[in-house]
Amino acid sequence: MIMIRDEIAADAAAREALLDRCLGERRTAKSSERLREGRLPAEGLALTAELDGEIVGTVRLWHVEAAGIAALMLGPLAVKPELQGAGVGKMLMREALWRAACRGHGAVILVGDAPYYARFGFDPALTRELAMPGPVERERFLAIELRDGALDGARGVLTASGAAIPAAFEAQEVAQAA
Ligand SMILES: CC(C)(COP(=O)(O)OP(=O)(O)OC[C@H]1O[C@@H](n2cnc3c(N)ncnc32)[C@H](O)[C@@H]1OP(=O)(O)O)[C@@H](O)C(=O)NCCC(=O)NCCS
Repeated sequence: MIMIRDEIAADAAAREALLDRCLGERRTAKSSERLREGRLPAEGLALTAELDGEIVGTVRLWHVEAAGIAALMLGPLAVKPELQGAGVGKMLMREALWRAACRGHGAVILVGDAPYYARFGFDPALTRELAMPGPVERERFLAIELRDGALDGARGVLTASGAAIPAAFEAQEVAQAA
């Protein structure tokens, strides 16, 4: 049975291998990576999907802000290719959005395939006033408000606002992922 649980430090190597497999090693060149690098994910919002002890899915959310308005940036989301289409992505998304709402977060932003994320309520209209810190295809730049009006007044380039990874921990993560 698939279990969705909090990510733990020991998941890092398997998570990175899964992301390389699903998204390619060029994934770190993406604009969204500029909002994640050197930062810790939001508290309670780094999730792992596990099946029989194997990591088969991952999603993480990150603190960002624009014009002083706080939001979360979701990504990357990935599911082991052999298990895609079996609902693991949906489980990760639902748990992530539920947890984000329970923790009082007002909005979640992401860059991804609109036909997939529309089913969870993501809409490109909500990012009209926003920009990424790099190139982005507007139709893939999506958001959902978990609280009505949470993105009112948010405009301009998103910036990372999460806690920085302590230097010693960053070195450990790189070593684990190598
Ligand atoms: C995108 C991804 C996370 C979805 O996870 P999943 O476990 O396969 O998705 P689910 O099983 O919950 O949902 C499957 C449904 O989503 C649809 N779907 C999957 N990927 C899609 C996409 N990129 N665009 C549109 N629809 C998509 C499937 O056709 C299926 O539709 P159905 O329910 O009508 O049959 C997974 O396919 C994946 O890891 N892809 C590679 C990495 C990636 O692209 N990540 C997203 C980066 S933004």
